[in-house]
Amino acid sequence: MDVIVAGDRAELDIARGELGGGRLALVPTMGALHEGHRSLIRLARQYADHVVVSIFVNPLQFAPDEDFSRYPRTFQADLDACAAEGVNVVFAPSPEAMYRPDRQVSVSAGPMGAIVEGTFRPGHFDGVLTVVNKLFNLVRPDVAVFGRKDAQQLAIIRRMVLDLDLPIEIIGGETVREPDGLALSSRNRYLSEADRRTALALSRALRAGAAQHGPDAIKRAAGEVLDAAARAEPPLKLDYLALVDPLTFTEVPGDHQGEAVLAVAARVGTTRLIDNITLTAS
Ligand code: PAJ
Repeated sequence: MDVIVAGDRAELDIARGELGGGRLALVPTMGALHEGHRSLIRLARQYADHVVVSIFVNPLQFAPDEDFSRYPRTFQADLDACAAEGVNVVFAPSPEAMYRPDRQVSVSAGPMGAIVEGTFRPGHFDGVLTVVNKLFNLVRPDVAVFGRKDAQQLAIIRRMVLDLDLPIEIIGGETVREPDGLALSSRNRYLSEADRRTALALSRALRAGAAQHGPDAIKRAAGEVLDAAARAEPPLKLDYLALVDPLTFTEVPGDHQGEAVLAVAARVGTTRLIDNITLTAS
């Protein structure tokens, strides 16, 4: 069956009607779809009868100095990918269809939105939650699938569902990587060959950390890899390396036992990359 493309709420309601009954899964994306997104679509299919993929580069989650205008837009290739994965509906609204010019109310991520990634991207998670909340209300899915690649985003969305009693099950999908370890990202296309070599330090640092025991040793091992990459050409410019609780994203104490997320963000050239790994800190 062909993919139905909907551009606004009215078209989406018609598309929903054409699907008939059954469980509905939503996979929110900003397009430029790669194998990471496609793995989420396949995961979504396991939880529902119908899959809706949203494609919307959300202006609210980009700061004025960030890459909103140069964010890759590859709509036809995205549609082909969705068709190949058996997606039922692609919801691809324009900014005007999503946001009224006089809009007033938004969702706040609260303290969780102001730490780790939020320190470097103030307001980013408010923008994410506002659009995800709207997408939930427009699509009305039973289940929504997000990638662990954006671990803090996933944790904050789970928190929104809990704190605002949203009737939606949230599923987390594993990070898909290149054979050399680099996490797939729509922004990887901006890396030159030399940038890419330096960028490999992110996943290498996470693996070095995960091979250690105890929070201090984990952070030290990962930090050494990142320090070496900071001296490479082109250099890696570290924003943060943090070992945090997977649910709250607060730093774990030195005597922490059990699961933790080792998260890293860095810039290589003009491209900002994030990655993380879930490990056992004890
Ligand atoms: P985007 O960056 O397009 O990512 C869409 C989904 O794909 C997110 O849930 C993200 O975690 C997941 N993803 C990205 N790279 C992945 C990889 N290598 N492996 C597995 N999953 C991966 O995240 C957003 O868009 C936006 O913030 C959004 C939630 C759509 C709100 O605007």
